[in-house]
Amino acid sequence: MNSKITLTLALLFVFFDKLFGHGDHGDAESLFQWTTIDYNWASKAERERAIESGRYIPLNNAINGIRVYDNKIFVTVPRFGEGVPSTLNTLISAHPKKYFLSSRTVLRPYPRWDMQIEGDCSAFQKVQNIEIDPKQGIMYVIDTGGRAFGCPAKLVIYDVKRDVELHRHVFPDSVVSRGTNYLNDLVMDYVDGRVEYLYITNTRDFAIVVYDIKNDISYAFHDKSMKPEPDKVNVTVNDNLIRVTNGVNGIAISANFEYVYYSPIAGTGLYQIPTKILRNSSADFSAHVRKVGDKPSQGDGMIMSTKNSLYFSVLSKNAVAMWELHKDIQTYGGEDRVMMDTLTYEANDPTMEWVDSLALDSSGYLWFTTSRLQLYFNNKLTNDSINFRIWRAFVHEPSYAYFDNRHSHRHDHHDHSHGAGSNLQSNTLIFLVFFTLFKIMTL
Ligand SMILES: *[C@@H]1O[C@H](CO)[C@@H](O)[C@H](O)[C@H]1NC(C)=O
Ligand SMILES: *[C@@H]1O[C@H](CO)[C@@H](O)[C@H](O)[C@H]1NC(C)=O
Ligand SMILES: *[C@@H]1O[C@H](CO)[C@@H](O)[C@H](O)[C@H]1NC(C)=O
Repeated sequence: MNSKITLTLALLFVFFDKLFGHGDHGDAESLFQWTTIDYNWASKAERERAIESGRYIPLNNAINGIRVYDNKIFVTVPRFGEGVPSTLNTLISAHPKKYFLSSRTVLRPYPRWDMQIEGDCSAFQKVQNIEIDPKQGIMYVIDTGGRAFGCPAKLVIYDVKRDVELHRHVFPDSVVSRGTNYLNDLVMDYVDGRVEYLYITNTRDFAIVVYDIKNDISYAFHDKSMKPEPDKVNVTVNDNLIRVTNGVNGIAISANFEYVYYSPIAGTGLYQIPTKILRNSSADFSAHVRKVGDKPSQGDGMIMSTKNSLYFSVLSKNAVAMWELHKDIQTYGGEDRVMMDTLTYEANDPTMEWVDSLALDSSGYLWFTTSRLQLYFNNKLTNDSINFRIWRAFVHEPSYAYFDNRHSHRHDHHDHSHGAGSNLQSNTLIFLVFFTLFKIMTL
């Protein structure tokens, strides 16, 4: 009897630990995982032809960028090498009856196959990331252009509710250099509730590119903070060393749209620049940039929440870290003086190899991709293990783009947090079972 009670108590302890041990932040779960990425080909024959011709080389397709909007998951597959048939996609279930059965989930080119033709400068050439304005339902797609085909870099804007192109801006070579650039990531800057500027990192030319939506013009800033740090070019992930010589990469904007944060991928420095500088093409960038701290290791993507928490990739720790910027603003008495102190790990796991792009949805889920680029770029990806994953964790904080929905978010959590809600329900059930068991045993 005694040992049974001990066992029950132990189980109860495990249960309570599971329920309360992680505060209000849920564990990250791997929702989708693939060994190789596949697409919704018109037919089996077309897929085979694509493999034969080299248009589709399965292992060369690495999911990198991610955004989630209106129950749709958008992912990018940058054309790092040959054999990537489609660079911007949505996820669909290949098995119509099963909603997103992970291994059967394939990519559907967005908006269509004909926007994915390599060598056609009017189509997408190499897309690393997108951003979506949830208020207007507008998607901003940055395209590096082609190296082999001489296409200029461009921004393409979609009405994502109707899948209709609204506008495109081809970057002048003087702003985004054709052939050498790599447009990597972007944030939206809202003025009076509307997106007025996009800030885009050009990781290979070490620049931040500004697109002024109203005036349909673009310009770029250069600063030494956007360059790789010479002593940080070796990135180690799970004992695999990869040399990275790119610069400014992850970028985020604070929830009041007053400051932008960015970091070079070959580096640990996190920098801050006021948006009033970025909005002014003749401003002196270097006179206003400020380093706010060092990240635990080199990192890739980052995203800010409405609450002003910055989530970012920590490559050498297979992790996502969270900087509670809002807390440190209190401590330092202003965002213009803030330093990065309050750092915790939101998610880490040995299988989170190369946390790549991060997104926050409307209901407080953090989404991120892991792309194993340390193996990809060393030609070490193999057919016999999981290479690409999409993770999700409930963090209670929607993205910065949901800023003026703040009051309805409390409500949203109850409505949309299916995952967390059902977890809680099953936990309650387990509790009742144990509690009853405990009562019976102690009678
Ligand atoms: C990076 O790694 C290479 C190979 O191990 C080594 O020769 C080089 O010194 C390292 N560079 C730095 C900055 O640590
Ligand atoms: C833009 O920056 C320049 C150079 O610092 C300054 O003279 C000008 O007043 C600024 N414009 C605005 C609108 O702030
Ligand atoms: C992957 O597996 C296929 C068979 O399923 C094989 O034909 C191909 O050579 C493998 N590729 C690599 C890079 O291991």
